[in-house]
Amino acid sequence: MRQALFLYLILHHFAIALAQSQVPTLGLQDGYLTFDTPSFSIQLVKDSQTLASLKPKGSASQTNNGTFDFYPLDRLVDRQYNGNYQLGDITFRVREVGKSTDSWINGDSSVSRKTVSSLTSSGSTLAAASLSNTLPNNSLIDVVRRWSLNDNRVLTLEFEVSNPQNFAVEIGSMGFPIAFNTIFTGRTAADTNANCSLIDPYIGNDAGFIQVTPLLGTQPPLIITPVGKTPFEAWRFLPENTANYPYYQSQTFEGYYEWQTHTLAWAENEWKNVTPWNVPTSEILDPSQSRVYGLEFHLGTTIQEVDDTLYQNGRPITTGIPGYIVPSDQTAKLFVKHTSKVQTLSVDPPGILKIIRNSEGKNGYVGYTITVPSSQGLPERARVTINYEDSISQTVHYFLTQPSTQTISNLGDFLINTQWFENSTDPFHRSPSVLSYDRQVNAHVTNDDRAWYRLSDEAGAGSWLAAAMKQYAQPNAAEVSKYETYVNKTLWGSVQLNNGTTMYGVRKSVYFYQPNLVPNYYYPTNEYDFDGSWNQAASYLLNRAYDYVHVSAAYWSLYRVGRNYPDLVSRPWQWYLNQSLQTVLYTTNPANEVGYITDGLMGETVWRMLLSDLQRELMPDYRGLTNDASTLEAAMAQREKLWSTERFGSEMAWDSTGQEGVYMWAKYFNDSTTKINALNSIIAYQPTVPHWGWNGNARRYWDNLYGGKLRRIERQIHHYGSGLNALPLISEFQSNPTNWYLLRTGYGGLSGPLSNIDYGGFAAASFHSWPDTLIFDGYSGDYGPNFVGHALNVGTYIINHPDFGWQAFGGTVLSSSSTQVTVKTMDTLRRRIFIASFGVLLTLDAGAFSQVIVDTSKHTIQLTILPVAEGAVNGASAPVGRLLVESTADVAGIGTFSLSTKLSVDAGAYVVQFNRGVASVLLRGS
Ligand SMILES: *[C@@H]1O[C@H](CO)[C@@H](O)[C@H](O)[C@H]1NC(C)=O
Ligand SMILES: *[C@@H]1O[C@H](CO)[C@@H](O)[C@H](O)[C@H]1NC(C)=O
Ligand SMILES: *[C@@H]1O[C@H](CO)[C@@H](O)[C@H](O)[C@H]1NC(C)=O
Ligand SMILES: *[C@@H]1O[C@H](CO)[C@@H](O)[C@H](O)[C@H]1NC(C)=O
Ligand SMILES: *[C@@H]1O[C@H](CO)[C@@H](O)[C@H](O)[C@H]1NC(C)=O
Ligand SMILES: *[C@@H]1O[C@H](CO)[C@@H](O)[C@H](O)[C@H]1NC(C)=O
Ligand SMILES: *[C@@H]1O[C@H](CO)[C@@H](O)[C@H](O)[C@H]1NC(C)=O
Repeated sequence: MRQALFLYLILHHFAIALAQSQVPTLGLQDGYLTFDTPSFSIQLVKDSQTLASLKPKGSASQTNNGTFDFYPLDRLVDRQYNGNYQLGDITFRVREVGKSTDSWINGDSSVSRKTVSSLTSSGSTLAAASLSNTLPNNSLIDVVRRWSLNDNRVLTLEFEVSNPQNFAVEIGSMGFPIAFNTIFTGRTAADTNANCSLIDPYIGNDAGFIQVTPLLGTQPPLIITPVGKTPFEAWRFLPENTANYPYYQSQTFEGYYEWQTHTLAWAENEWKNVTPWNVPTSEILDPSQSRVYGLEFHLGTTIQEVDDTLYQNGRPITTGIPGYIVPSDQTAKLFVKHTSKVQTLSVDPPGILKIIRNSEGKNGYVGYTITVPSSQGLPERARVTINYEDSISQTVHYFLTQPSTQTISNLGDFLINTQWFENSTDPFHRSPSVLSYDRQVNAHVTNDDRAWYRLSDEAGAGSWLAAAMKQYAQPNAAEVSKYETYVNKTLWGSVQLNNGTTMYGVRKSVYFYQPNLVPNYYYPTNEYDFDGSWNQAASYLLNRAYDYVHVSAAYWSLYRVGRNYPDLVSRPWQWYLNQSLQTVLYTTNPANEVGYITDGLMGETVWRMLLSDLQRELMPDYRGLTNDASTLEAAMAQREKLWSTERFGSEMAWDSTGQEGVYMWAKYFNDSTTKINALNSIIAYQPTVPHWGWNGNARRYWDNLYGGKLRRIERQIHHYGSGLNALPLISEFQSNPTNWYLLRTGYGGLSGPLSNIDYGGFAAASFHSWPDTLIFDGYSGDYGPNFVGHALNVGTYIINHPDFGWQAFGGTVLSSSSTQVTVKTMDTLRRRIFIASFGVLLTLDAGAFSQVIVDTSKHTIQLTILPVAEGAVNGASAPVGRLLVESTADVAGIGTFSLSTKLSVDAGAYVVQFNRGVASVLLRGS
């Protein structure tokens, strides 16, 4: 929303005035301490001994000719005031042992900053100081901070905490603020991309780490690991003043978190209604006792090799298959590798997972097979704790869902029935529709000052978009029919104009705040502040390209349903295909002045599918489609040309929405430089770590303001970036089927949208990651695009991995030998199988895979296909299966695959007849 940017401009003027009244306390005027280490050039602010600059060493291309800095040195002058967190700061809560839970005393070195008392440093110590001056005088503990170079190599930040009292002191919280250059404020897009980084945690106790990834995705990441016992227990957001430049906690500056190593004092108070990621701990120091906490800073090689950097530095590394979001009917695998042996392994809640050691790990990996004994009470979080002999205790965080196909049956039921809105007198023409929903009160969201929240924009379209994609993914006759009445009465004619020169134009909203136009409508002005809300003219604008993608996706889904399940739809499939196309072409016609059409648009992979479907439907009785395909292709080619110079534009200053479209069209038009730029950008903002919340979780942090019930800037968990950015990762994996990193991260992203679906089928926009919340948002919001990503690429991905052997993401390996594997397809759709060893993608337009046997010595693929996915509730049966076979990669020694028996072909798909409800197809490679 552009409104937000406008707001920042207003705030900017305010802030300049405010900032001038503040007194700088960081001590910039007294200069810096400068150090040179094997990996970094370092500067500390002399007075505070906090970090000022951390420049990696390396080749010119890896370091922007030596100018790249992980730290925002150039914004330090704006952040030199009390309360601005710096790396090197410390926060804690302490109390006299035995005192009550409300007697914690807060310590925070940033709050009232004073020059620290420098201590003499020698040997490997670069700088040391007592922090007493800058901590409250009733702190109970003394803190000495040291920056040093361990093993003459590794930059280390240590805090020696001691108890000078004559009584025991309990440390109930201990945190280390993690600040780097995530400040996009005041930068051009080029500056942001070249000079900024993102920070993501793995909250895995002793095995925890932080990765700081430069936005271009091509430069070495910074990896932060603990020293000794400094467990990563929680990742706490650090509140700051948000009014001043560079606008902490805004769209251009998400804000900072801290590595929290003890959390009991928070768990007992602010977080008492929350189940934390890890067991909250505290530490007791007897009189004159001391202990050391610390962090190490490693310069990695590439983001894709973070695991290698961790392992080389003595940290355990972990791979989960299919990741850490596991439907209860799937068998998951967990592989760990560490220099010390696993001693014990436990699960919380007890019994929720069954874990058995297997013999599948190779090259130092130890493997476990994980099953979910019961789906009762799911979805739910689960934690696996692995204790190693060297006393490292690691936690791996899982999210368990209902059985896969049933989860999306539930989703369809909830959207089409519970979220169904009908009110014939609704003055905004929203009836009937699948309307936004508030799960916390179980009611429609009929009003909101955010006008877009009704039937357009990601937030307003989210629910009807998800409902349409669900029919594509798993059609259900009754749901399709009900959905068509939404298309007939509301989508076509209210959301989208159906006559005149603006036919196919899509409104920004059908709802608005203008009481004089709807005199009998009650606006709840007591609940919402409608001051900045859209009036009718603003809502009825047709100029936001993003909105068109959702409409075209709904039509495209119904085209797919009609084409493959002809009895289910009341209109000819040709009508739906044409509607989808005309909706896209409206945006690319310059006369219509649709904004943002030159940017990559979330979900526009659907347009790529549409193009391919137009190309496939060369039916003689349907004139014009060939030309239509060329028109669409030409329009997309024109957009793609722009992207070789101006990358990843968006309506926001920085975004993770454009890369999907840029990648996909660049790939289609063979522009490999642009394609790889987009992919690298994604790799920088979509991490893979052993935690369901962050694994494959693409960076999103402001959309709660636009679509959430709880409106705040925070790192969102599995907002739609996960599902959508997984599309390029998976597509690139299909082209490079030995790049496992892409599959791990991509499948994490594809799985994200499953976690949002609750027991009854309600899907929330995202999960709140702050440790005081840790719940899904109450609103359905902009969930829809997330499910688009899921539906368009989830499948069963079969690999033969050098460390893990035969494995399946989205499937269960039933048996295997060195050259053969039998896999049961277990993903939510059962429509895609990718065989990495062959670089072959098998897709069903209709029907569902049940099982596949791959033989790499005979070069055969034996498929079992059913009319409907097992476990789908009231899923429609396909009259015939329609199978596509595609080679996506050149694999040495593997030719093309063809059928062993001849089948007729319809629009590029083999027509598979069912015999007593099952079909068997054998493919042979040349
Ligand atoms: C590095 O310097 C070279 C030579 O001056 C220049 O061509 C190149 O664009 C620079 N690269 C960056 C990332 O600044
Ligand atoms: C602690 O600091 C406060 C505020 O600076 C001061 O008033 C007080 O005297 C100090 N107390 C001790 C014990 O030093
Ligand atoms: C990145 O930062 C350096 C150092 O501040 C600056 O010289 C350079 O222009 C920036 N890069 C871009 C693309 O703006
Ligand atoms: C339908 O909408 C009108 C106008 O907002 C409202 O007055 C009425 O109560 C609604 N009817 C139902 C059945 O909710
Ligand atoms: C939708 O409208 C078309 C065209 O008027 C009609 O043929 C069809 O039956 C309608 N479908 C439904 C479900 O109302
Ligand atoms: C054209 O569409 C508008 C907006 O939906 C509607 O108000 C109008 O009645 C339509 N006109 C005709 C002739 O159908
Ligand atoms: C598709 O829509 C366009 C624009 O409304 C129309 O002219 C054309 O006849 C339609 N084509 C088919 C095949 O329905």
